[in-house]
Amino acid sequence: MAAISATLSLLKPGDQLVVSELIYGCSYRLFSDFCEHQNISLQFADLTSMEALKTVITPKTNMVFFETPTNPFVKTIDIQQVSTQLHSVNPAGLVVVDNTWATPLFQKPLLFGADIAVYSGSKFFGGHSDIIIGAVTTSKEELSKKLTGYRFYHGALPDPFNAWLMRRSLQTLGIRMERHQKSTEKVANYLQNHPRITQIYLPPIDGQQLLGYGGLLFIRLDCQTYETVQTFMNALELFDLGTSMASVASAVANPYHGSHLSMTPEEKAKISLDEFVVRLSIGLENPDDLIADLEKALDTIF
Ligand SMILES: Cc1ncc(COP(=O)(O)O)c(C=O)c1O
Repeated sequence: MAAISATLSLLKPGDQLVVSELIYGCSYRLFSDFCEHQNISLQFADLTSMEALKTVITPKTNMVFFETPTNPFVKTIDIQQVSTQLHSVNPAGLVVVDNTWATPLFQKPLLFGADIAVYSGSKFFGGHSDIIIGAVTTSKEELSKKLTGYRFYHGALPDPFNAWLMRRSLQTLGIRMERHQKSTEKVANYLQNHPRITQIYLPPIDGQQLLGYGGLLFIRLDCQTYETVQTFMNALELFDLGTSMASVASAVANPYHGSHLSMTPEEKAKISLDEFVVRLSIGLENPDDLIADLEKALDTIF
């Protein structure tokens, strides 16, 4: 969150910020609260739609912030199109991409016109759920200077142990992402045909913007009550229950009551997030064991 806060420090009262409506719940709340206090005009919008893009991004827009693949539902937002649109109507406007889920190995926002890419290093970068750290990257020197100044004056600095753990983790990022990707594909293929799953959400890998994808997927369970969802999640033995994710250990979570808890029921309804959507984070265990565990848990809700 410190990385996201650092980019917000680039805005001033009176500015206009456009944010994707499909975004991590705490980011949603941070933007809402920050903009209200700082007198910044904030608009949430469906940035997956070209039509929406054109109406919402105007010469007065100072910053556009989004995650792609989106959270939830891992939809694609076209970084090039957002950047072209913003920079053509406001050359000084900033496009900021939260690239935490794709990682720079699978998606490089700055090559598609984004000004800044931010990362929660607590996820795939760290990969072991034992670090709180983040990163802001930019190819613009002026921005880099401002962000470095913010980091110094606001104390958004990792302590030496976290920095050491991060160095250790980055040595295996490539090999971990390869394995996350292979296992996610295998698990997704299994879930695709399951009668109790009405929908599985995976991002399209176009080979241009998104070169690969691993780890996080969403499923919609075919059930009537949240108790059934809980029965399924509690029956899993190899998936940790909780908000931790993008780690060596697989995890299961309910975004409605977890990552997006800070949004109101109305805000969640607007993005079609209900209680039957479950997020799976596929870790580095043997994928066949994960499939067996999912099968057993799905059997409990038949
Ligand atoms: C996409 C994304 N960005 C940012 C964050 C915030 O990261 P942290 O918990 O490291 O502050 C999260 C946390 O889940 C996230 O999923």
